[in-house]
This record gives sequence, structure tokens and C-alpha cells, in this order.
Amino acid sequence: MKIEERQRLVQLLRETIYRLTGNYYPDERMKILEYKLERLLKSLNVDNLPPERTIDFFLSDPERKKMLIDLMTVPETRFFREREQLETLFDRVLKDKKVVDFASIGCSTGQEPYTIAMMAEKRGIAGRIVGMDINPEVLKKARRGVYRATEIRDIPTEYREFVLEKGETLEVVNKIKKRVEFREVNLIDPKSFEPIKNSFDVVFCRNVLIYFDYQSKEIALSNIKSALRREGILVLSSTEILGKEFYHLFKPFKEDRFTFYRRTD
Ligand SMILES: C[S@@+](CC[C@H](N)C(=O)[O-])C[C@H]1O[C@@H](n2cnc3c(N)ncnc32)[C@H](O)[C@@H]1O
Repeated sequence: MKIEERQRLVQLLRETIYRLTGNYYPDERMKILEYKLERLLKSLNVDNLPPERTIDFFLSDPERKKMLIDLMTVPETRFFREREQLETLFDRVLKDKKVVDFASIGCSTGQEPYTIAMMAEKRGIAGRIVGMDINPEVLKKARRGVYRATEIRDIPTEYREFVLEKGETLEVVNKIKKRVEFREVNLIDPKSFEPIKNSFDVVFCRNVLIYFDYQSKEIALSNIKSALRREGILVLSSTEILGKEFYHLFKPFKEDRFTFYRRTD
């Protein structure tokens, strides 16, 4: 493929990914996009179609569309990520609560919702825990609840009763697995939020909206708001900050050194 065609294809791909997922590749990440695309095209043996046809090739088939989403979204996650923030939420913000319904949106391979389940279990907190993601591939892995044995190092000693080490793997115990459901959801698609309107007290959406631009972030935040009950809480990563332009949807409040967000009425 000629250089100009390749560049046109990468641009089209950027637009397509944005339209499908809300994830916006800024100029400085375009090299990553190009590299990922190259790998995908090689693996499928389709490096010679014109740019528009290449995009059609992916969009015209649900399985190939999934491949595109799988490759273009960032699945990085781990158990007990930002543990201190989680402890502040459970032990200060949710203090004395006996039933809390949680969602982890952009849950990737499941470590986040399982961490929430372990923390809730330890504190005797009942309620639903639902992990959601746009990528069906990561959800498959999340449902299995089987990880690499090395991930044990992310799990504090007092929570290791909730995993089983089996040779090279680490498996979440059934008691915890049973507490977590998984479902496919697209943060920028209001239709996928219809069935979960007003369903949660706390929504985690950590390290997801950092890949969105202003517009897709606003759509995603409105959808998250619709999934929360009145007074519901949004948890972002502690390095993400919602600017004033979103205060009509969520208002920040501080607990210790962490900022959480409460749904506006
Ligand atoms: C970096 S991971 C974050 C995982 C976890 N929340 C954490 O902080 O460890 C981002 C996840 O967001 C998901 N994601 C990206 N766009 C999405 C969308 N439009 N709707 C739902 N999930 C999305 C990706 O598939 C990916 O699994």
C-alpha cells in the first residue's frame, strides 16, 4: 500500500474507532494506532485493499468488528489498583452501609470488580456487583476468573483467601465469582444503558475516560449518571479530574486526599 493510502487508512481508522467506542487517538498516539493496525492487517492477510474497503472489511462482519475493538482499546488493569483510594471509599464514604450495588464500567479482564467483591465480602457488605465493558474478549476472560499466578503479588495478604493458586494460574474462588456478573455495555451508546437505569449506588469508571475527548466524555458521563441512583457516587482514578464543564452532571467531594463525584439531581 502506498504511503498516502496508508495514512488515509490510519485516519479513517481513527474516525471509526472514535465513532464506535468514544476512544480518541490524539496525534501523539497515532503511531501506536498505525502499529496496531499493521499487525492486525498482516494477521488477516488484508494489507492490499484500498482504505475505504479495508474499513468496510472490518465493519461488515461482527467478528471482525470485535477484533478491531479488541485491538484498539487498552485493557491494562490489576487487582487492588489504587488500594488506598478503594479503602477510603469503603471505610469512609460507605461507612456503615450494609447493602451497596456497584458497577465497574470499563472493567477489562475483571480484576477491578473482583477486587470490589473481595472488599465488600470482608466488610459484610451485600449487593450486586456488575462488571461491564465494550470488549467481549476481555469479558470472556473476566467471566472465567483465571489469571496468571504472578498476579498474586497485587493481592494483599489478608485477601488471599479469595484466590486459589494452581500451578501457573490464580483462580478467584467461587464465593467471589458468584457475586460478580458481567455484561457488554458501550459507554457512548445510551441504548446499552436502558436496562441498567437507576441501578447502582457506586459506579467505578477508572482509567477509561482518559482515552475519550470532551464530546464522548460528556455522553459517557450522562450515561453513567443515568445508571446511578440519586446520591450515587462516581469513582474515577485519582489521577483523573472532572473539570467544571461537567459539574452539571457530577459534583466533586473530598474524603481524605481523594476526590469522588456525586450525581447531581
Ligand atoms: C485501561 S482499562 C481500565 C480497567 C480498569 N477500570 C482499571 O482501572 O484497572 C480500559 C477499559 O475500558 C474499556 N472501554 C473503552 N471504551 C469503552 C466504551 N466505549 N464502553 C465501555 N468500555 C470501554 C476497554 O475495553 C478497557 O477494557
